[in-house]
Amino acid sequence: MAYLLGLDIGTSGVKGILISVEGEIITTKTEGYPLSTPNAGWAEQNPEDWWEATKKCIREIIEESNINTGEIAGISFSGQMHSSVFLDEEMEVIRPAILWSDTRTSKQCQEIYDRAGGLESLIGYVSNPALEGFTAPKILWLRENEPENFKKVNLVLLPKDYIRYKLTGEIYTEVSDGAGTLLMDVEQKDWSAGLLEKLDIDREILPPVVDAIEITGRITEAVAAETGLKAGTPVVAGGADNACGAVGSGIIKEGRVMVSIGSSGVVLAQAGKPVADEKGRIHLFNHALPDSWYMMGVMLSAGMSFSWLKESLYNNSLDYDFLNQLADEVEPGSEGLIFLPYLYGERTPHADANARGVFFGISGKHKQGHFIRSVMEGVTFGLRDSLELIKEQGVEINEIRAIGGGAKSKIWQQILADIFGQEISLLNVEEGPAFGAALIAGVGVGAYDSFAEAESKMIKVVKKIAPEEEDIDRYNRLYRLYRGLYTSLKDNFKELAEIYS
Ligand code: XUL
Repeated sequence: MAYLLGLDIGTSGVKGILISVEGEIITTKTEGYPLSTPNAGWAEQNPEDWWEATKKCIREIIEESNINTGEIAGISFSGQMHSSVFLDEEMEVIRPAILWSDTRTSKQCQEIYDRAGGLESLIGYVSNPALEGFTAPKILWLRENEPENFKKVNLVLLPKDYIRYKLTGEIYTEVSDGAGTLLMDVEQKDWSAGLLEKLDIDREILPPVVDAIEITGRITEAVAAETGLKAGTPVVAGGADNACGAVGSGIIKEGRVMVSIGSSGVVLAQAGKPVADEKGRIHLFNHALPDSWYMMGVMLSAGMSFSWLKESLYNNSLDYDFLNQLADEVEPGSEGLIFLPYLYGERTPHADANARGVFFGISGKHKQGHFIRSVMEGVTFGLRDSLELIKEQGVEINEIRAIGGGAKSKIWQQILADIFGQEISLLNVEEGPAFGAALIAGVGVGAYDSFAEAESKMIKVVKKIAPEEEDIDRYNRLYRLYRGLYTSLKDNFKELAEIYS
């Protein structure tokens, strides 16, 4: 029997999954680690915590699955995107990693636009706009705010690439994570010499870029002794968590779209050509499939809006089943109650850190169920914003696959189908990015001929939800109103932020 190991270096913990090449999930394990917020809007983690958790996770998987580790044909990674690990000449971590969710770099984003010559010119270099979460503004922040630390920087790595270094001693990144740094030419699949020059960033501090399926090293003797893995096991490059999540959901063909309702919300479509939105409203990143790309919209508070409602608004007094039941008792459209899901600002389509949540249209007839349903609907309107932007780029959408915690709710599944006005597919496996990483390992070591072969062994559509025709029109009208609300409130959000700055 041959096995594949996928490791996802996530924000709340590392998840490992061991699968057999034939398509069986053998073991999954998660090992958590803390996140610190030393200042408002900051988010940091200690890369050493990732490494300790990764080793523990690997040991537990080996122990529980009780396999001969010589039969692990390949290992690969997924990881939180954009987060920066600053390393010195000795490959020691200089300061805690600054994470993708950290918003301290607004000033540096402006500096990037100024140095690059504006949005259009920046998109010309790297196909994406400057957003606080991306890696490049974090490098500029360090240079400006911690010059002593900056002087020591010899290398900047992404989370999974730091773990690769620890497992193999090799230094690489790959195209899908490289794209999220805002320093890579996503069409050419290499660092953008032009932008690096404008930003005065030395190319030497960036790792070499390879394709996601390349073998980038082997497990060292020292790591083998510590984890139980076999020395010499091949380690494949892997991908950004969204690229791996897409592989794990079979988004490996044009026309397929993944909609994920996790804490954040993601709408992702495979793209055969690198076509960037000229206004930078959606991201264009490289996929884990060679010479393939994806367009992606990211909503910051999708499932998070729902957990906020459950925990903060209803003080955990109602469980998920009851919340769903109450929402189900309310008619589609929540009798005119509209929720804007911008609890922590928004990324797609507004890229506005000042935006905030709103319940619009509250009347005396609205009860708990209306609020619950309108949160599900408001999040889905936000996801539709990303879907519309993807369609605007000329992408034909044949199939929408829904994944993530929110998509487990039957009522939310129906809301997705009705608001998108399109059938929604549900899958047999929902193991997320770690699973996609295991499939990448399989393609990388030749256990599968192609991603299509990997998919045919593992991923099946098990259910399709059709939209209710009579609700589509009302949702279309409410969606137009939803879109107008942000435009009307934009300046008010700014004013509110100034009062509370
Ligand atoms: C994508 C993004 C997040 C992180 C989460 O651009 O910032 O989805 O990758 O890990």
